[in-house]
Order: sequence, then structure tokens, then C-alpha cells
Amino acid sequence: MLKFVAFALFLTVVSVSGEGCCAPKQWESLVGIQNTTAVDGMIKVTQTYAMESYDFDRKKIAMVFPTEGFRMVQDYDKKKLYIIAGTYCSAIPWPYPMINCIPENATLLFSYEMGGSGGLMVNQYNLDAFLHDFKGSMQFTDKCIPVSQQQYFDSYVTMFGFTNVTTGIKDPSVFDVPSPPCPMDTDIDNVLKPLLFEPAQP
Ligand SMILES: *[C@@H]1O[C@H](CO)[C@@H](O)[C@H](O)[C@H]1NC(C)=O
Ligand SMILES: *[C@@H]1O[C@H](CO)[C@@H](O)[C@H](O)[C@H]1NC(C)=O
Ligand SMILES: *[C@@H]1O[C@H](CO)[C@@H](O)[C@H](O)[C@H]1NC(C)=O
Repeated sequence: MLKFVAFALFLTVVSVSGEGCCAPKQWESLVGIQNTTAVDGMIKVTQTYAMESYDFDRKKIAMVFPTEGFRMVQDYDKKKLYIIAGTYCSAIPWPYPMINCIPENATLLFSYEMGGSGGLMVNQYNLDAFLHDFKGSMQFTDKCIPVSQQQYFDSYVTMFGFTNVTTGIKDPSVFDVPSPPCPMDTDIDNVLKPLLFEPAQP
């Protein structure tokens, strides 16, 4: 669960206070997710994708996983993470702040132009400035739109790619949480694991 929270926490990164390099207050993106694990000395790769909706005004982030058929909603006012799959709903504590700007103590590690002249300008930062104690890096465009993230754990690496980022929220119902509120479920790991990843394409 910790790793999953870490992944989801990143999604809070791209929003904070008024100054500095900040993402739009509302944006959506198709997020590609790849997880590479060493299992008995062999590399195992799993992939999935999600539609992310980020709304700093509502203080909510939603991720819809169409392949797995579930949705996550992070509510930063209520400090809850909701997992919604059909009629199943679960809520777990989500005590993190919502972030909108690149932190001032983030180190700019590299700047480069993807693909070369006329390509996409990308700035790379250390992940621990965004996620305390996590190893990895994050990439943003020079307009502070997220491009990608790599997160290194002891035995696996998780990578996220943000594509087709658009501003605004097309369908605010992605943030809806069933009422009465979800029951607390401390065993959320068992729900998420089978939902999260499909085997990679051969
Ligand atoms: C990636 O794989 C590891 C090891 O199997 C797993 O613990 C982790 O939860 C996976 N990452 C995500 C985002 O689920
Ligand atoms: C950056 O500053 C934040 C807030 O003061 C702090 O939580 C975080 O640990 C710092 N990160 C690094 C890499 O110094
Ligand atoms: C991403 O955006 C491009 C340009 O609008 C569009 O042609 C493409 O179909 C989009 N891709 C996906 C997977 O939505």
C-alpha cells in the first residue's frame, strides 16, 4: 500500500501556492504507468493507464482506470482517498497537502529538448523535493506541465508518463463519491493489487 500511496501522492505534486513555476489549477491527462519488478532474477513489466483529473479549486484529484474498472478520488479538504469500483467503495486517510508548484528546494538536474530543435523543452528535478525520502526524478515542461516521473524502490521501478494534458475539467462527475460515505477499509491493499496492473503486451 505504501508504494501505491507514494504513486498517488505524486499526483498531488503539481499544484501549491501562488509563486514559482505552477501547473494550471485544472487539468486532465492520459497517464501511462509502467512497473518493472525483479522476480526471481527475472524482469517483470506491467503496464496500465489512467485518466487523471486534477482540480486545485475543488481540492480533488481523480484517476479513472478504465481497464481495471475502478476510480480513485483524493479529497484534500476531507483528507480522504476514495477507491470506487462499481458498488464497492472504500475510504482511507489522505493527510497530504495538495501541491500546485515546483517546490523552491527542488534541484534542477537537467534541462533538455526532447527530440531536438523545436522539440519539447523538459526540466528534470529530484523526486525527494516533492516526495520526502523517495528516490527518483520528475520531468516538467518549461510551463510546469508534468511530463513524466520515475520512482525507484528497492526491487522495482515505477514510471509515469503524462500525455495529452488539457486544461479544464470536462466532466466534474469524476470527482463524485457515493453517499452515504464509503466505509473505512483498512485492507485496501487486497482490493488494489488485483485491480491495478494488467500484464504488459508481449
Ligand atoms: C509495482 O510492483 C511492486 C512489486 O510487485 C508492487 O509492490 C507495487 O505496488 C507496484 N506498483 C504500483 C504502483 O502498484
Ligand atoms: C523541501 O522543502 C519541503 C518543505 O519545507 C520539505 O518538506 C522537503 O523535505 C524539502 N526537500 C528537500 C529535498 O530538501
Ligand atoms: C492525444 O491527442 C492527440 C491530439 O489531439 C490525438 O490525436 C490523440 O488521439 C490523443 N490520444 C489519445 C490516446 O487520446
